Amino acid sequence: MATFRIKRYNPEKQPEPYYEDFELDIPDKATLLDCMNQLKWTRDGSLAYRMSCRSAICGSCAVKANGHALLACQRQAEHLLKDDTIILEPLGNMKPIKDLVVDFQPFWDKLEKVDPYLKPKSKSPEKEQQQTPEQFKLIDDSSTCIMCGACYSDCNVIEVDDNFLGPAALAKAQRFVGDSRDDATLERVKKLSQPGGIWDCTHCGECVERCPKPARPFDRIKEIMTVAIEQGITNNNGARHAVSFGRSIKRSGRLDENRLPVETVGIFNIKGLLDLLPVGIRMLLKRKIPPVLHGKIDDVDDVRRIFRELDQ
Ligand code: FES
Repeated sequence: MATFRIKRYNPEKQPEPYYEDFELDIPDKATLLDCMNQLKWTRDGSLAYRMSCRSAICGSCAVKANGHALLACQRQAEHLLKDDTIILEPLGNMKPIKDLVVDFQPFWDKLEKVDPYLKPKSKSPEKEQQQTPEQFKLIDDSSTCIMCGACYSDCNVIEVDDNFLGPAALAKAQRFVGDSRDDATLERVKKLSQPGGIWDCTHCGECVERCPKPARPFDRIKEIMTVAIEQGITNNNGARHAVSFGRSIKRSGRLDENRLPVETVGIFNIKGLLDLLPVGIRMLLKRKIPPVLHGKIDDVDDVRRIFRELDQ
């Protein structure tokens, strides 16, 4: 017998959300969605959540179970039990509408911002534009995204910055940045390098943990970062930081922590450099300033060899 502790919310009846417990004998091999359906159909028909395909295809059944987003139809309930209990809550970073149903509008709005459609040079090609298997491989993973919102729900950046496009929209952006039939790569990476775009990702990897498909949004974000730098879109803190980081490791085998912040804000950015001063002074007073002379590690040649191989 398991307890399903479900966060209930119905603003028409009660302004504050509350938790309600339901006991259920989990049928053998039942998915979490099967259990939610049992509760709805036999205990409380007013329990609200979304579902459609029951096959991890439509993306509509994403909820939070024990604090993390997942697809309810993809996971066996017994594997989610913690102390015989599963806590069900609506997805995060979106406004709850009723029980486990949330308002996806901000999610769709951000998706729209990345122009999620092909922009070929010729508006109406005369025949289909074929791709080689190698070309398709570049967009294969991002094509598997089912827009369930699990990554968006658990994204740590969106939690503090509403302006961030989020992992799903950026993964979708890569699907077009990497598409051999698209002719707007430069325009796209310029836009995606602006505040709220790729460089605001904090690399926490939470989206990869939550993604129920091989889309792995953070990996797609890294791919856009690479294309942006290759296309010369480096006039921003994020790109400068990445370039300086790589250059430092290649030069000495370790990170030059004195040079990194300076090169990140830009060596001719007087205001940015002045903004760094108070932190620098505090570090100095606390004796946290790294050594001014930045030495190489003994095996720096091995590091450089790795860079050479990566370049090739
Ligand atoms: Fe369609 Fe779960 S019901 S993905």
